[in-house]
Amino acid sequence: MVGLPRFRPRLRMRRLIPGAVVFLALGVIPRTLGAQAAAADEKCLECHAGAGAQGGRPLADYEQAGISAHQGLGCVDCHTGAAELPHADSLGEVDCLACHASETDVRGDTIRRYSDSAHGRARARGIDKDAATCVDCHGKHDIRGVEDPRSMVSRRNIPLTCARCHENNQVVLRHDIQAEHPYLEYEQSVHGKALFKDGLLQFAAVCTDCHGVHDIQAPGDTLPMAGRPATCGKCHITVMETYRGSIHGRLRLEQGDHDSPGCVDCHGEHGIMAPESGAAPTSRANIPNTCSSCHADAGTMARYDISTDRLETYKTSFHGVAQGLGELNAANCASCHGYHEILPASDPRSKVNPANMIKTCGECHPNASSNFVSGKIHVDPRQRSAGVVYYLRNAFIWFTLAVLVILAVWTAIDFSRKLRNRKG
Ligand code: HEC
Ligand code: HEC
Ligand code: HEC
Ligand code: HEC
Ligand code: HEC
Ligand code: HEC
Ligand code: HEC
Ligand code: HEC
Ligand code: HEC
Ligand code: HEC
Ligand code: HEC
Repeated sequence: MVGLPRFRPRLRMRRLIPGAVVFLALGVIPRTLGAQAAAADEKCLECHAGAGAQGGRPLADYEQAGISAHQGLGCVDCHTGAAELPHADSLGEVDCLACHASETDVRGDTIRRYSDSAHGRARARGIDKDAATCVDCHGKHDIRGVEDPRSMVSRRNIPLTCARCHENNQVVLRHDIQAEHPYLEYEQSVHGKALFKDGLLQFAAVCTDCHGVHDIQAPGDTLPMAGRPATCGKCHITVMETYRGSIHGRLRLEQGDHDSPGCVDCHGEHGIMAPESGAAPTSRANIPNTCSSCHADAGTMARYDISTDRLETYKTSFHGVAQGLGELNAANCASCHGYHEILPASDPRSKVNPANMIKTCGECHPNASSNFVSGKIHVDPRQRSAGVVYYLRNAFIWFTLAVLVILAVWTAIDFSRKLRNRKG
């Protein structure tokens, strides 16, 4: 179940108030005085507009400027260095934060937080100009509000805006970025399809829902949000509630223990697929391997005193053998343990607590009796603790050996008899 994500309503008036204060403080001309600004702009456009430019660099996107979110501003509101003409050759970068610093984005972060993001810090280090600035994500003269479908930051366009750099091999290699093809994987994912194919613009996760907008952080940074269950849980509300009560959820959320799986450990990151899709790590065929990435790992399991033989014993069980042969209706780890609600067998709510076994097995074996479900499930026939199975297995091995020996002796006797007969 996907809950409706709660997007913050756009509080235009409230957001304009701090803006207006800044305007007054800076002596900048607000919208209502646009006529004056336009007159001043004419001067600039004599040299900068289109093909008729008199030696000034033509403003390629000038046509766009008229319909941008900034149409009420004059040129010098942004290009403060050009206030006096003729202006210097180099005017320096436009300071967007001069007007926008205290506004908040859809996530409630102030725009100013950009300075403390992976992108902002990389720029501040000043080594190169790869990392995204305001202009890279918003444009220059064609900046539009997020609700305008033509905006670079409208929900549908966000993935492509990020992809310009994050699918660029040079950038990825130069900065040693872990995700090499986030866009291409995302495009094929359940979220990408929901956005591009089904047009669920407000509901499907886009890059910024998982990473943040102006405070995007890298894995080593203090607060990267992408890997946190709560990030997925904002939209997958019911799943989150269930997960929170599970052994994995408790360990992860209450103790911050990363040995325990978060959503992305079981589902993947950019390429998340519906469990029905064969390739998903959560598909019936792949669940045993997904769980076993931890449950067969001796290092991890030793810390919790949990046996690592779960995959081995599953594979040699009726269900495991059947599954190996392609019978996907046979029970996998999640059929017996559940997936978001997993609890230790000792917990009375666990699906594998003895009291609940008839119900759990009964989902597929409608006539399951208490006798049917009483057998041990994770049986390693090589261990004496496997009980009857251990003795049966040993008996079978001895029996086979005995038969082989008898056969060999019998063949030898037969052979020597034939040999004697021939001589005779
Ligand atoms: C007399 C012609 C002329 C007028 C009027 C003029 N410019 Fe320019 N502008 C130029 C030229 C020439 C350049 C290119 C400088 C270069 O590339 O070295 C330029 C460059 C620029 C640049 C790029 C600066 C940089 O650092 O790369 C900006 C921004 C700019 N002008 C803005 C304005 C604004 C705003 C106005 C009006 C207030 C204006 N210009 C008026 C001729 C003009
Ligand atoms: C919202 C702020 C904003 C306003 C308003 C604005 N510009 Fe710009 N302009 C930019 C930004 C951002 C750049 C990219 C370079 C930079 O970061 O300084 C730019 C670049 C330019 C350049 C360099 C050539 C180019 O296209 O990169 C010129 C010339 C220019 N602007 C002229 C103008 C003129 C003329 C006006 C008024 C009609 C104007 N600008 C209004 C933000 C603005
Ligand atoms: C990595 C890309 C990226 C960078 C860098 C970035 N932004 Fe944004 N910005 C976005 C996205 C995506 C949105 C739309 C989501 C939202 O509304 O929060 C947005 C929203 C905004 C909004 C609100 C727009 C609206 O319609 O409500 C403003 C204002 C803004 N950014 C200003 C800036 C400024 C100023 C900078 C530079 C300090 C900047 N941004 C840097 C991606 C970026
Ligand atoms: C001189 C002040 C000023 C500067 C400098 C400035 N802006 Fe704006 N910006 C505004 C005003 C005013 C609005 C219109 C606010 C509104 O309609 O809610 C606006 C609107 C926007 C919006 C759309 C927000 C919305 O709610 O529709 C974005 C995105 C944005 N600016 C980004 C930028 C970026 C990026 C830069 C730097 C290149 C920049 N601004 C520079 C004043 C400024
Ligand atoms: C103009 C190019 C550019 C754009 C556009 C851009 N990024 Fe980046 N991004 C970079 C660069 C370069 C780095 C590496 C910075 C560093 O070396 O610390 C980076 C770092 C990151 C990181 C941290 C990864 C790491 O290992 O350091 C994340 C996450 C990220 N970007 C997500 C996004 C998202 C989401 C968007 C779109 C909203 C986006 N970026 C838009 C260039 C860009
Ligand atoms: C459903 C959530 C989700 C979406 C949507 C998403 N990402 Fe990610 N992304 C992640 C997770 C989880 C990681 C692994 C890093 C972690 O655990 O913090 C990651 C890692 C990354 C990294 C490597 C840096 C790092 O933090 O390891 C980059 C760069 C990146 N994503 C960019 C993007 C871009 C660009 C898009 C959109 C095309 C996107 N992501 C969409 C969840 C998401
Ligand atoms: C912005 C909201 C949002 C966020 C954040 C989000 N998702 Fe989703 N997710 C959706 C929507 C909407 C769908 C439904 C797509 C459809 O049915 O077409 C979906 C579908 C899914 C599915 C497939 C469900 C099914 O029934 O087939 C899985 C699995 C999934 N998301 C896992 C995750 C994980 C893991 C994360 C965090 C890394 C995450 N999601 C973050 C909105 C979100
Ligand atoms: C221990 C592994 C594991 C963890 C942790 C996990 N999931 Fe799942 N998830 C699964 C499996 C397995 C399925 C598919 C079960 C089936 O339908 O056969 C699934 C199914 C889903 C679905 C499809 C709808 C449904 O409920 O069947 C969504 C959405 C989803 N998970 C989201 C999440 C989110 C969000 C988180 C984190 C809060 C999360 N998952 C944590 C293993 C996990
Ligand atoms: C990222 C590693 C990881 C993955 C993936 C994972 N687990 Fe776990 N699991 C753990 C850890 C660590 C514990 C120990 C929790 C504790 O005891 O506090 C645990 C505990 C359990 C327990 C309770 C054991 C006990 O006695 O306390 C069960 C049952 C379980 N996991 C089943 C599964 C199943 C089924 C899957 C796949 C759907 C799965 N796990 C996927 C790490 C993982
Ligand atoms: C046919 C049902 C069934 C299947 C399939 C199954 N289990 Fe179990 N599992 C159980 C039962 C019943 C127990 C409790 C009794 C025991 O330990 O044998 C258990 C115990 C466990 C435990 C010990 C922790 C505890 O709950 O006390 C872990 C961990 C575990 N299973 C993981 C897995 C993994 C991983 C898989 C898939 C590779 C898997 N199981 C497949 C039924 C199953
Ligand atoms: C998701 C469905 C499912 C669940 C849950 C399930 N089983 Fe099965 N089980 C199967 C299927 C399918 C087969 C047939 C495999 C084959 O083709 O040999 C099977 C076969 C068996 C067999 C082999 C003999 C026979 O009856 O065919 C036993 C014994 C068995 N299951 C016991 C259990 C027990 C005990 C539980 C509960 C702990 C359980 N199963 C839970 C689907 C399930």
